[in-house]
Amino acid sequence: MTIDAGTAGRHAARALLLGVAVVGLVGPERSVRAQQPPAQQQATPPFEAPEIPDTAGLPGPRQPVFFRHDVHAGQYQIDCRYCHSSAESAPYPGMPSMKTCMGCHLIAGAAIPEVQKVREAAMSNQAIEWIKVHRMPPFVHFPHMRHLKRETAVKAEITCQTCHGQVERMPQVYQFASLKMGWCLDCHKKNKVTTDCTACHY
Ligand code: HEC
Ligand code: HEC
Ligand code: HEC
Ligand code: HEC
Ligand code: HEC
Repeated sequence: MTIDAGTAGRHAARALLLGVAVVGLVGPERSVRAQQPPAQQQATPPFEAPEIPDTAGLPGPRQPVFFRHDVHAGQYQIDCRYCHSSAESAPYPGMPSMKTCMGCHLIAGAAIPEVQKVREAAMSNQAIEWIKVHRMPPFVHFPHMRHLKRETAVKAEITCQTCHGQVERMPQVYQFASLKMGWCLDCHKKNKVTTDCTACHY
């Protein structure tokens, strides 16, 4: 199946977006690399999300709109927290609203068919029903903020990528870690964090 016909325009949009949308919309503490001066950006070659003529072989569930993390978090370096804004303050990281999408897509990528789906949904006040990639059983309690806050008692170097992999290179998100109990316990033991049954099970 081919749904990526409009990507040729992505490169043309790059200058406009980096100049206007990312720097303008991403808050000062949110965008890390998008705001670096050009000299620093040249140090590492910029990543360009590939054309994907056939999406059938991609791992992960097929979403109602082909939303690409490799384009947004990779090529345009939009910080994860710009869209998942409660990861450090709440159990759930949060999902971006249609308003967040339209902050850029009022202008960016207007000619791309997949972007037109987003604009049409927003105009008719409908949310996109994203298909969940991670499914934890209801008897397990996983608080995102306890794993990401800088001032935790344990100085473990944990980032989104530790548990989700290189999402900024994924055209379609898939489950990277097993999410099995043993996976949780291994890291807790390594970091001398609680392994009490009741910490994770109510
Ligand atoms: C900070 C700006 C920004 C935000 C926020 C944003 N996008 Fe994008 N998006 C872009 C840019 C830039 C492109 C590339 C446009 C182009 O190629 O002309 C893009 C491309 C796309 C594409 C086409 C991907 C491809 O094949 O190239 C889709 C679909 C898309 N965005 C959906 C969304 C959705 C859904 C949201 C909200 C969850 C969203 N975007 C939020 C900037 C943004
Ligand atoms: C422009 C907005 C945007 C940015 C930036 C963004 N995401 Fe997402 N993220 C989404 C949307 C929309 C979905 C739902 C569609 C999908 O799964 O691709 C999603 C889904 C996910 C999921 C799967 C959720 C589930 O259903 O279990 C993970 C994990 C994730 N993002 C992690 C990240 C990480 C890590 C980063 C930074 C490297 C990031 N995201 C940056 C918008 C964004
Ligand atoms: C210690 C491991 C770990 C870290 C670090 C982590 N996550 Fe997760 N993430 C998970 C697990 C486990 C789930 C499934 C939780 C559930 O279903 O209750 C999940 C689920 C998600 C989801 C889906 C939420 C939903 O409502 O369906 C998103 C989006 C997400 N993570 C984004 C992020 C982002 C962005 C970061 C970094 C800021 C991050 N995660 C850091 C383990 C982690
Ligand atoms: C990569 C390492 C890592 C993984 C994987 C991990 N954790 Fe943790 N977890 C930590 C660290 C470090 C802390 C302690 C943070 C602090 O000091 O507040 C923590 C704290 C917690 C807490 C709070 C404990 C308390 O003191 O009340 C819960 C609950 C928890 N994790 C659940 C889980 C579950 C459920 C999973 C698996 C789905 C998981 N964790 C996977 C590193 C990890
Ligand atoms: C750090 C978090 C964590 C701790 C501590 C923890 N568990 Fe779990 N447990 C999980 C997760 C995540 C799952 C779901 C994934 C799976 O089945 O492996 C789970 C699943 C289970 C299941 C269901 C297994 C199945 O096959 O359906 C049982 C029973 C269980 N745990 C018992 C315990 C007991 C007893 C303890 C204390 C000795 C304990 N857990 C401690 C995270 C934890």
